[in-house]
Amino acid sequence: MNQATLHQLKVFEAVARHSSFTRAAEELFLTQPTVSMQVKQLSKVVGMPLFEQIGKRLYLTAAGRELYSTCREIFDRLSQFESSISDLKGMKQGTLRLAVVTTAKYVIPRLLGPFCQRYPGVDVSLTVTNHEYVLESLANNRDDLYILSQLPEDADINVHPFLENPLVVLAPHNHSLVQESNVSLKRLAEEYFIMREPGSGTRKAVQKLFDEHDIPLKVKLDLGSNEAIKQAIAGGLGLSVLSLHTMALESPNSQLAILDVENFPIQRYWYLIYPSGKQLSIIARTFFDYLLTEGKEIAEQTVFAWQNHPDSQSEGVRSFLASAS
Ligand code: PGA
Repeated sequence: MNQATLHQLKVFEAVARHSSFTRAAEELFLTQPTVSMQVKQLSKVVGMPLFEQIGKRLYLTAAGRELYSTCREIFDRLSQFESSISDLKGMKQGTLRLAVVTTAKYVIPRLLGPFCQRYPGVDVSLTVTNHEYVLESLANNRDDLYILSQLPEDADINVHPFLENPLVVLAPHNHSLVQESNVSLKRLAEEYFIMREPGSGTRKAVQKLFDEHDIPLKVKLDLGSNEAIKQAIAGGLGLSVLSLHTMALESPNSQLAILDVENFPIQRYWYLIYPSGKQLSIIARTFFDYLLTEGKEIAEQTVFAWQNHPDSQSEGVRSFLASAS
């Protein structure tokens, strides 16, 4: 392995993580032939194939799996080394790695602005993905900090509640149920539903509520994006349950409205978490403290301002918030 370069290992790690040459090339800003060439040379050094292509999917071979876990250890150690060097230098410099559930994308990028202005030496890698993938990143120790709404049961983690994340029922603004109050779950279930994809925390929370009441849902389709679901609702495909934060940037004449339904909003929290044994770098620690103090304040002010500003939200959101308060 003496002949293998760090660059080749980096390329290999990215291909293995994405199970795709194309995605790895995109991430590393390389061409796909360059990526294939690097992996080919690395296989030669190892003396065994690292991947096998079955149908359209790329799988790691046994040798590939061994190398992948070795790579992860090497890169983890290197990144720890990098952080301790900048910690020793007392500099807030390096990369902050965050993995957050999709609903948090309506808040976290905004909070990163002031933080990055204060610490211009910090680069941020923010992964926005669903509950299941955030848990996977956590299990593989891929990031510094994680934000999600449902806590894993069996993980040894540090947990800090961050902000409210209520789930609400959304309908097209001209739907007949918009005018009604305290709609029953049974009545709601007569409508077609659009659900987030399996693995989504939002989906789990909705399913749990309806299962508890033993009411089946008529699911018309699954979509892997909150924004796509909002478009599908506006297009009349059905109703859905999403985080109230997804409505934050809706215009006053939004085509969506929030329904007044019994047992809603489903009250939830975003939690800021990290594995118990993890040594947070100075950057991660600084961001952690920022998020729970100033960041939280900025977020609450923004959400609060948004809830109270008559021009910044749809009629549906306004009437919902008025009735909820
Ligand atoms: P999801 O999680 O993106 O997996 O639906 C969102 C949440 O749990 O708030």
